[in-house]
Amino acid sequence: MSIGIIGSGALGSTLARAFAANGIAATISNSRGPGSLADLVAELGPSITAGTVEEAAAADIVIAAMRWTDAERVLGALPAWNNRIVIDALNPLEFLEPGAPADPSNPLAAYGVKALDIGSSASSSIFETWVAGARVVKAFNHLDARVLTNAAASGGQRVLFYSGDDAGAKADVRKILDAMGFFAIDLGPLAVGAPLAQLPFGPLSTVELVKI
Ligand SMILES: NC(=O)c1ccc[n+]([C@@H]2O[C@H](COP(=O)([O-])OP(=O)(O)OC[C@H]3O[C@@H](n4cnc5c(N)ncnc54)[C@H](OP(=O)(O)O)[C@@H]3O)[C@@H](O)[C@H]2O)c1
Repeated sequence: MSIGIIGSGALGSTLARAFAANGIAATISNSRGPGSLADLVAELGPSITAGTVEEAAAADIVIAAMRWTDAERVLGALPAWNNRIVIDALNPLEFLEPGAPADPSNPLAAYGVKALDIGSSASSSIFETWVAGARVVKAFNHLDARVLTNAAASGGQRVLFYSGDDAGAKADVRKILDAMGFFAIDLGPLAVGAPLAQLPFGPLSTVELVKI
């Protein structure tokens, strides 16, 4: 199955790196166009190609790796999903500008982010409305992206969580996690699993587990 990545920042580029290391083909895109990704794809080799957002979004499995605050606009401008798989790797965070004034009311300021108030909804239930007609799987969101190139950890396999409502979509995403070398744990349907692993306050967010 083809894989497209929308976003080539910390998460998108690290995923591309991890895919390349495991021989998994993917098309990566960003807001500036494929030319801006020439150095990255040259470094990563032939399994990773640079494309437009539309080209990445035409894949069988599309990974949303943009900021929450950009996602509705970016995803809403794309053609119909026609039951394809979209991986929701987002967290409902605002990224602070470097040097933003100190905000004692923000417990996440040290991490350069602020929790967005999305009410009592799970972020995935909002995300689903932005990709109507897609099968959504939540994955790749609960750990710092830097660990995604390092599936082998402490003598075992790093655990990644995923969740979703469509068994077939989850099985296809699990194949990717397996091929990357992770120990994948299905947290169940989106309504259960996504809030557990959602940053910043999901009880399983940032939890690093290793299967020995
Ligand atoms: N960083 C992490 O450790 C991490 C871990 C787990 C989950 N996440 C989640 O992953 C998402 C991305 O985080 P990040 O740290 O990778 O952010 P980032 O470094 O700021 O990267 C955001 C990417 O989105 C792209 N983008 C913005 N507008 C776009 C548009 N109109 N069309 C196409 N691409 C567009 C940007 O393109 P340009 O490069 O052209 O500006 C950039 O490549 C966030 O929702 C975050 O919560 C991050």
